[in-house]
Amino acid sequence: MTELELIIDLHKNSERQGPGSEEETMKAIELMNLANDRNFKIADIGCGSGGQTVTLAKNINGQITAIDLFPEFLDELNNKSENLGLKERIKTLEKSMDDLPFNNAEFDIIWAEGAIYNIGFENGIKKWKNYLKNGGYLAVSEISWITNSRPKEIENFWTQEYSEIDIASNKIKILEDNGYTLVGYFYLTQNSWIENYYKPMEARFETFLERNNNSKLAKKVVKENKAEIELYQKYKDYYSYGFYIAKKIDAVS
Ligand SMILES: C[S@@+](CC[C@H](N)C(=O)[O-])C[C@H]1O[C@@H](n2cnc3c(N)ncnc32)[C@H](O)[C@@H]1O
Repeated sequence: MTELELIIDLHKNSERQGPGSEEETMKAIELMNLANDRNFKIADIGCGSGGQTVTLAKNINGQITAIDLFPEFLDELNNKSENLGLKERIKTLEKSMDDLPFNNAEFDIIWAEGAIYNIGFENGIKKWKNYLKNGGYLAVSEISWITNSRPKEIENFWTQEYSEIDIASNKIKILEDNGYTLVGYFYLTQNSWIENYYKPMEARFETFLERNNNSKLAKKVVKENKAEIELYQKYKDYYSYGFYIAKKIDAVS
């Protein structure tokens, strides 16, 4: 297996592929203050195995298109939807988030938890804006600093991993500069990282290594994840996923 295949193998049987929680998905939904007598067309981009997709389907009327690059995650989501009787409401689409086959103004809501970083925040919000109706909502969670300064070790680590990491006020400015109005912002709790993401991942390390014959590459994947968890434990007061909920408002000429 390649390293990418191993990473997919480590993550595919998990409830979620990144930090988050049902409560926080709900909190973001509530901030949009949606009418409950309407149907909405929603895109959930970088959905993974669909932790948040199911919450969206249970709490918003309408149709969801759940997009991911990897069929392994979409298979998991399809099984989940089938078991929950949500198959008609959630359609999956295997596509890259920077090459989506959507029409202009096709969606009421664009959702992306822990995924926009794959094509960069600014690039993503610009591209996806075309698919949103005027007055439609964008809800994205994105790694963000939660203090204005921080120790060098963590600053260097995250800047190297993802150069667009920033404080919320700069992210909000990027949204405003690109035709969105902020509707709400909060950042994910430490529980969403530790209990919902890191602990379940740690519990999978042993079977993952066994399944992959303790290969050198599988050990490397575990080692890197352990290092990330250690850094989180040490510096968790300085960063989290910021959840940005914004509305597209087109300028009227
Ligand atoms: C950190 S995970 C988050 C998954 C899920 N939203 C969650 O919070 O549990 C990022 C997701 O983005 C997907 N992904 C990575 N690159 C992508 C791309 N170019 N297009 C679509 N999805 C992509 C990955 O397969 C993965 O499911």
